[in-house]
Amino acid sequence: MPGPTVRPRRLRTSRAMRRLVAQTRVHPAQLVLPVFAREGATEPVPIRSMPGQVQHSRDSLRNAVTRAAEAGVGGVMLFGVPATRDATGSWATDPEGVLATAVRDVVAEVGDALVVQADLCLDEFTDHGHCGVLTPDGRVDNDATLERYADMAVVLADAGAHLLGLSGMMDGQVAATRAALDAAGHQDTALLAYAAKYASAFYGPFREAVESTLQGDRRTYQLDAANRREGLREAMLDVAEGADVVMVKPAGSYLDVLSDVAQASPVPVWAYQVSGEYSMVEAAAAHGWIDRRGVVTEQVTGIVRAGADAVLTYWATELAGWLRDA
Ligand code: PBG
Repeated sequence: MPGPTVRPRRLRTSRAMRRLVAQTRVHPAQLVLPVFAREGATEPVPIRSMPGQVQHSRDSLRNAVTRAAEAGVGGVMLFGVPATRDATGSWATDPEGVLATAVRDVVAEVGDALVVQADLCLDEFTDHGHCGVLTPDGRVDNDATLERYADMAVVLADAGAHLLGLSGMMDGQVAATRAALDAAGHQDTALLAYAAKYASAFYGPFREAVESTLQGDRRTYQLDAANRREGLREAMLDVAEGADVVMVKPAGSYLDVLSDVAQASPVPVWAYQVSGEYSMVEAAAAHGWIDRRGVVTEQVTGIVRAGADAVLTYWATELAGWLRDA
């Protein structure tokens, strides 16, 4: 019996050959590090459910973003953990609040070496934990929330944010914040729309990270995990409203949606490897059940292969180091 003439294994014979024919390459510049800034912290506070991640003090935040920049990471996404919360998320629009302060600190520290991004959402700032303000009967009020987002956008742009991440999933949030930014002279502040953000159990550890206790759930505004077509629809709507970048979130369980959006989108498409995706790997690795570096590299490669132009990942700095050494 003659053997096969077509042998795909030829291209796998050596490390050099595999490297040369690799179709997907992850580069540090396409990684974004999410970080948490805790109001009043004098020391970094470990996040129990996210081993290796902390709520930063002002000093430790400066160190973390400097390390990210040195590793060649493309940007940071800042989240605020305020000391006080109320029904409307008043401190989200305080120019001296934790998030605006963190933005100013990070811009002062790294300048233009990183794209400095801030989460634009109310859930970290509301006492009920929803991403918006509520009607008297307890529903999330879309249009009243847009006014809060518009104000928050201007505060964060004033603080120097280069890009704002709209993660609240209110209808019309891109158009409303774009109009407010332009009216305030912030034409160059970019908008990242969390276009296809699914109502996900994978956000669990994030709630601890920002100390948010949610009353109810987010199913009236975040997408249903069952719906693929709707992910594309949301992304296209956000593009039409003027989004500069659209995002799919979470990443790993939504690679089909990511692929759909990547094929159709005229703007960059990013994906967010969220807290639960991080924690699961860290937990299994801590038991010695999986190879941590191998799994992280494989997951992020899979997300890029599916079509992400950039990936938000809590491993950004560490992964950038691995990629450099590879
Ligand atoms: C909303 C927001 C959330 C995350 C990012 N932005 C929480 C939510 O929608 O419940 C989750 C990120 C993660 O889990 O890593 N401000």
